[in-house]
Amino acid sequence: AKDPVRVLVTGAAGQIGYALVPMIARGVMLGPDQPVILHMLDIPPAAESLNGVKMELVDAAFPLLKGVVATTDVVEACTGVNIAVMVGGFPRKEGMERKDVMTKNVSIYKSQASALEKHAAANCKVLVVANPANTNALILKEFAPSIPEKNISCLTRLDHNRALGQISERLTVQVSDVKNVIIWGNHSSTQYPDVNHATVATSAGEKPVRELIADDAWLNGEFITTVQQRGAAIIKARKLSSALSAASAACDHIRDWVLGTPQGTWVSMGVYSDGSYNVPAGLIYSFPVTCANGEWAIVQGLSIDEFSRKKLDLTAKELFEEKALAYSCLN
Ligand code: NAI
Repeated sequence: AKDPVRVLVTGAAGQIGYALVPMIARGVMLGPDQPVILHMLDIPPAAESLNGVKMELVDAAFPLLKGVVATTDVVEACTGVNIAVMVGGFPRKEGMERKDVMTKNVSIYKSQASALEKHAAANCKVLVVANPANTNALILKEFAPSIPEKNISCLTRLDHNRALGQISERLTVQVSDVKNVIIWGNHSSTQYPDVNHATVATSAGEKPVRELIADDAWLNGEFITTVQQRGAAIIKARKLSSALSAASAACDHIRDWVLGTPQGTWVSMGVYSDGSYNVPAGLIYSFPVTCANGEWAIVQGLSIDEFSRKKLDLTAKELFEEKALAYSCLN
């Protein structure tokens, strides 16, 4: 039998945490033959609720779940973890300035970066979910210099999956037949959902989405804004932000990263930019990636038209400004 993998979930007493931990314990993230030990971190005000989640995990009698650490101690939480899913963060509250929220999160991600660097297993893979996800991941990277930058990522897979969902609804095809959409940039409303390379499996073979949906006004307009604004639409409907879809996307992200993407398929991940597609280096930016042997690689050589170029640059500009704001909060 395989040795258990230790998976950290921070903010585990929260909404996404509550949806995510049972998925991990069931093998949705790492596969049905991979035992796991869950490490759950939250802050003291949530300690009792966190313990309740631990009680439910015991009650669920998951065969793959070999242990649960539920703690408010960052060091205990991070010790020996192979995978860290960072969901904990400070939410924006009414009347709060962007800078105030950024200050809170920068200080959380700075201290958790140090704890991971010192106590996580070698080669720990990190996924930041908490917003501002790209910039939190960048701060984590900057303050954990001994963790290789290729091991630090942020979640844009939810946006990617939302884009697949919108195409499948529009064409009334199975979502599993749609592939290779791209989310470029920030996990925010400036993200660019790009269908220029996306395809659909049909009985007549693989067809470009642009050929099947010959409605440029929709593809260049409503489709993009629907994906960009989907988070807000869920809050309006549910009075709470996306949780089950975020948890599911976090599982998809880690699963593909660890087990590999299917042949001919790419996914979107927020990763440290290296200058590909003329995106400035030094940002955590969402790119199309393929994964093999536990490593991602940015898909190269895709054509970028003028419309797309503007959108790639706009979201890079926002990330640049977020980075500057984050740094100003450190001082
Ligand atoms: P939530 O407020 O229900 O849960 C957050 C949890 O984090 C709470 O239990 C809180 O006590 C905990 N927490 C706060 N500070 C912490 C710290 N320093 N260490 C450990 N835990 C801490 O929020 P929810 O709905 O679960 O969302 C979590 C985050 O994920 C939010 O920042 C949200 O904006 C973000 N999000 C990101 C998405 C993405 O696609 N990247 C999608 C949906 C949400």
